[in-house]
Amino acid sequence: MASPSRLRQSLTLPNGSVLANRIGKASMEESLCDANHGPSQDLIALYQVWAEGGAALLLTGNVMVDRTALTGPNNVIVENDANMEELKTWAKAGKSGAAQLWAQISHPGRQVFAMVNAEPVAPSAIAVEIKGAKGMFAVPRALTEDDIQDIIKRFATTAKLLQEAGFDGVQIHGAHGYLISQFLSPHTNKRTDDWGGSIENRSRLLREVVRAVRTAVGDKFGVGVKLNSADFQRGGFTEEDAEAVIKMLNSEKLDLLEISGGSYEAPAMTGLVDGKSVVEEKSSSTTAREAYFLTFAKKARAYAKMPLMVTGGFRSRSGMEAALEDEAVDLIGMAKPFSHNPSIASDILTGKVERVDLKKIKLPIAALTSMADMAWSKSQMHRIAQGKRPAPRVGPFLNLVSSQITQRKAAKRYQQWLKRA
Ligand SMILES: Cc1cc2nc3c(=O)[nH]c(=O)nc-3n(C[C@H](O)[C@H](O)[C@H](O)COP(=O)(O)O)c2cc1C
Repeated sequence: MASPSRLRQSLTLPNGSVLANRIGKASMEESLCDANHGPSQDLIALYQVWAEGGAALLLTGNVMVDRTALTGPNNVIVENDANMEELKTWAKAGKSGAAQLWAQISHPGRQVFAMVNAEPVAPSAIAVEIKGAKGMFAVPRALTEDDIQDIIKRFATTAKLLQEAGFDGVQIHGAHGYLISQFLSPHTNKRTDDWGGSIENRSRLLREVVRAVRTAVGDKFGVGVKLNSADFQRGGFTEEDAEAVIKMLNSEKLDLLEISGGSYEAPAMTGLVDGKSVVEEKSSSTTAREAYFLTFAKKARAYAKMPLMVTGGFRSRSGMEAALEDEAVDLIGMAKPFSHNPSIASDILTGKVERVDLKKIKLPIAALTSMADMAWSKSQMHRIAQGKRPAPRVGPFLNLVSSQITQRKAAKRYQQWLKRA
């Protein structure tokens, strides 16, 4: 007799709330704000569709804590109650099915294109360096003590506002080379004060943000963190660092820890670093062949006290079941599959789909491949938001070019808005 599906089992989180099954939609920056950087009608419509797609948890894309620090020019910004009515409508849409809705709250630090922000901030004055992208990122200013304290408060304020709007939780973005991840990594954090040096110091910002957010929202609201298993760069954040951070996070009140990896410079979260795969392609195990960070998660499961979600590469129902069966992970995270099929969670849970087949995108330059891949998923999300079926016609390179043009226009609009706001 086949063993019962682990994917269909519920999961009770430390805050007492229950996730209906074991599939979570991981964050994907939607780039769908309205003219005031609140959620647009398209964004709300997209979550209405995803709410009915069977996932137990919907994590939004980056929601920004500071209007002067965006990851992209079309981000939703939550720093006061200016867009509260729209935020409430967004929350209602995302929660209209069986899923919990959590907002991912973020600060990009230095990792923002110069056309969006020519004066970024970071732990140290070191610019992002990507082959073929010279001049696209400005040298950041190193943050002062007062700046850091202000950023900690901002995360807490944003979380509280989202709670008021009706969200079930927030996820603090501590991965992918954004500000908190820059503090964690010795590659980007060269500080000699209390915020740099030892892993205890490098993780101080993350821990202070977690604590400030928890204090602001109370014990019943979901609070999670997205953390890199490593940043896949020489001299960077290592698995040993990640282990030390997770052990420190054990003493905070966290409801979920999502494991990922990489940054713009080494985009392991897309499955490729320098054009090379981050999985064991020849392994006899399906999970090892497809899921990027599972080997680390398995080790982390032994010492992490909070529930673990792992995101990156999960494509087969059997691979997901095996990861749960192995008890390496409590929740399966998927991102791109939701941009190609908004009902992918129910299709997997019911057994209608055994394997997600995504369009394989490969351009001659590795960094461009990752960008084209992201742009491709984003354009599919925009189709879903407009009530269209995800039906890609345009080639990935043309799609990337058109998305760059759109981004440029959006960056100009954002600069004008910032001057007025
Ligand atoms: C279009 C797009 C936008 C993304 N935006 C975010 C984001 O806002 N925050 C985040 O943590 N990860 C973001 N990611 C990364 C995903 O959450 C995920 O870690 C990655 O795509 C690997 O999972 P997958 O193989 O299931 O797609 C994005 C990915 C894509 C494709």
